[in-house]
Amino acid sequence: MSVSISEVLTIVGGLTVVFHLLRLTWRCWRGLREFVLAEVWHMDLRTYGQWAVVTGATSGIGKAYACELARRGLDVVLVSRSDHKLRIVAEEIEHQYGRKTCTITADFTHGHSIYPAIAEGLQGLEIGILVNNVGMAYSDHFACFLDAPDPERKITELINCNILSVPQMTRLVLPDMIKRGKGLIINISSVAAIQPQPLLSLYSATKIFVTYFSQCLNAEYKGKGINVQCVAPFMVCTNMTKNIKVNCFVRSASGFAHEALNTVGLSSYTSGCLSHALQSVALTVLLPDWLRMSQFLVRKLQRLAEVITVKRRAMEEEEKLRKKEE
Ligand SMILES: NC(=O)c1ccc[n+]([C@@H]2O[C@H](COP(=O)([O-])OP(=O)(O)OC[C@H]3O[C@@H](n4cnc5c(N)ncnc54)[C@H](OP(=O)(O)O)[C@@H]3O)[C@@H](O)[C@H]2O)c1
Repeated sequence: MSVSISEVLTIVGGLTVVFHLLRLTWRCWRGLREFVLAEVWHMDLRTYGQWAVVTGATSGIGKAYACELARRGLDVVLVSRSDHKLRIVAEEIEHQYGRKTCTITADFTHGHSIYPAIAEGLQGLEIGILVNNVGMAYSDHFACFLDAPDPERKITELINCNILSVPQMTRLVLPDMIKRGKGLIINISSVAAIQPQPLLSLYSATKIFVTYFSQCLNAEYKGKGINVQCVAPFMVCTNMTKNIKVNCFVRSASGFAHEALNTVGLSSYTSGCLSHALQSVALTVLLPDWLRMSQFLVRKLQRLAEVITVKRRAMEEEEKLRKKEE
């Protein structure tokens, strides 16, 4: 029996279509499970242990994670730089969710010297979950590497805060988790790490460290009962994003933390919520690397950043004048 070339091509084409349809169906099912069904079908996080530690826990995504973890029945260790803000958040959690809290004051820009005190603060606690959330931006807006204010100081601070904090905090809690055979480490990366992001060069580079570190750690310790999840959000309404208005693209911090915690155990790398997952797919398709890295787009983004800065300054001036008049 002889088979013609056109018949072979038809079979290969048919198999390719079936393969892609199966892959699409699998991805849709994963998305449905991770972001829709997880609302009612998610893990009981208390199984990891009594306490959760959250870095950068006094506002934004960190505070939202701390509150959501307390709502789900965990006691929370809050780590941040302002003692006053820590006490306010701790009282809020104790009052609202009836969970125990513990606070540790530490400035992550100070580098390795802060970790012995943090280790002391964590001693004796059964830490089931660590959320490495603390992070800062290099500049207020899209800017070239040397155009940020005081780059000499900022480079070290950013690396200490966004990079060093993640393995150092992990080192403090991981040995006990391994002894107990269970633990969850959530590391907050960013959409800025999905692909290289000019005009956010240092920030983007610190976040890809978080992504790679999380993925490797997950592979190394999964067999010992430790889950490491990397969360890479798009825009969330926080101080870092100048409290940008919430809409279908921008999530509130509490809504984001709620959805992201539902994905624990379902995904070791996630955008955190459905809206951000869809934006992530769209971004990779619509903005390929050659366009993202082009002089054309870099100049457009710089121009946009200038316009936004001028508008923001004008609004701040208006606000100041309005307050004076009142
Ligand atoms: N917001 C977004 O759209 C977005 C998107 C992608 C990724 N992320 C990542 O999500 C994480 C949280 O961001 P966010 O938007 O929630 O930021 P945020 O609103 O600025 O909050 C940051 C938190 O970290 C604390 N913090 C800042 N610098 C610190 C330091 N040097 N030492 C100790 N604590 C410090 C802050 O304390 P104070 O209250 O004292 O300032 C605050 O509690 C970051 O890693 C960020 O890169 C955010």
